[in-house]
Amino acid sequence: MTDSTGMLNIQPIHPFPARMAPSIVWENLPDSGKPMRIFDPMAGSGTTLVITKARGHQAIGCDTDPLAVMIARAWCADVAPERLTRLAASILNSAIAEAAHLCPETAYPRGADDQTQKFIDFWFDEANRIELAALSNCISQVENPDERNLLMTAFSRLIITKKLGVSLAMDVSHSRPHRKYDKAPVTPFNKFLHAVDYIARKAPFRTNNPAVLPAQVIKSDARSMPIDSASIDLIITSPPYLNAIDYIRGHKLSLVWMGQSIDGLRKIRSSNIGAEHSLPTTELAEFSTILPQIGDVTSLKPYYRNMIIRYLHDMGATIAECRRVLRDGGRAIFVIGNSAIHGIHIKNSEALTLLAQNRGFTMESTTSRPIPESRRYLPPPNSEASGERMKNRMREEVILTFATA
Ligand SMILES: C[S@@+](CC[C@H](N)C(=O)[O-])C[C@H]1O[C@@H](n2cnc3c(N)ncnc32)[C@H](O)[C@@H]1O
Repeated sequence: MTDSTGMLNIQPIHPFPARMAPSIVWENLPDSGKPMRIFDPMAGSGTTLVITKARGHQAIGCDTDPLAVMIARAWCADVAPERLTRLAASILNSAIAEAAHLCPETAYPRGADDQTQKFIDFWFDEANRIELAALSNCISQVENPDERNLLMTAFSRLIITKKLGVSLAMDVSHSRPHRKYDKAPVTPFNKFLHAVDYIARKAPFRTNNPAVLPAQVIKSDARSMPIDSASIDLIITSPPYLNAIDYIRGHKLSLVWMGQSIDGLRKIRSSNIGAEHSLPTTELAEFSTILPQIGDVTSLKPYYRNMIIRYLHDMGATIAECRRVLRDGGRAIFVIGNSAIHGIHIKNSEALTLLAQNRGFTMESTTSRPIPESRRYLPPPNSEASGERMKNRMREEVILTFATA
């Protein structure tokens, strides 16, 4: 995890929009003493978890997105790289044999309903559908969950790419897929072993310390988490920004090959923070005092004001859960960027600060840092905000550190 100069060197094993900067986690972890329980309630690809584990602490994470949960589990898994590459070669052979018996009419994931099949027809050509159906089926039969997650993560790398993937889309890795090709530029059987090799080279896999408990990654909603009260020492998390990324939109292309239906994914998407359509009926008095402090929201259309209220509601519930699971004396670190809606600057960081203070936290420190170009978001394809306005949208992130009051 560190190179010969002692610098942090951690490589992601799968693309993920808006990953946390690893150095933020690294610098905020305690060096010695007894192992702590460190938690990320919106763990995404698992940056907090993988570094926590490498530093000898117990890592616990939640996320609602099944792809995030799978990647985070894979990144934290203990599997010998040589074993993984051997297994991948035998899976590929089985998939090639299985593909010989498939035809376009049957080349879908097992149990895929009509709507899911139509979605697959739109995004994948027939030849690749056959290879993907065979590969995903063979991987799903691997018994060891760590090995299965790692191989599925490699499989997913073939789909979640910017340009040259096995689907007909571009920009899937930025969660803004748009159909570009008539025939996919890459075939799954040709690239599967490369994808596994990539992961085998990047993943840390071994902690060499039997005392470190395995990471726990739970598929769960951060607004109501299956974590005991007062059981966590430190939270390090980067919540979704207001209206920034529809994670499921790109991830759907991979998830349909893992047994998820389009209808099920729609439900997951609507459980994402800020995505509910109905307005909250509680805490409105609190939100009306917060709103004027985070930006000039009065000039926004009601639709956008309501969107901010929903975000406040969901983040309020998440922060209340964070306080519940943290022990007295624990700390919570939130990393968040600010946003712009129709040219109006919205200070998400101020919103989180006010919500946290109303839920039993005191502010310990707040610092800002520029987000490196490579980690900035791309605008959604139908975004009205474009050009300079969009470029300015998320150039900085704020690190908020709270103590329990
Ligand atoms: C900014 S990303 C986290 C990135 C992560 N720190 C990393 O390094 O990969 C925010 C995450 O919040 C998750 N999320 C959104 N709504 C959620 C909810 N209600 N409960 C739990 N996680 C949620 C998204 O799925 C996404 O993975």
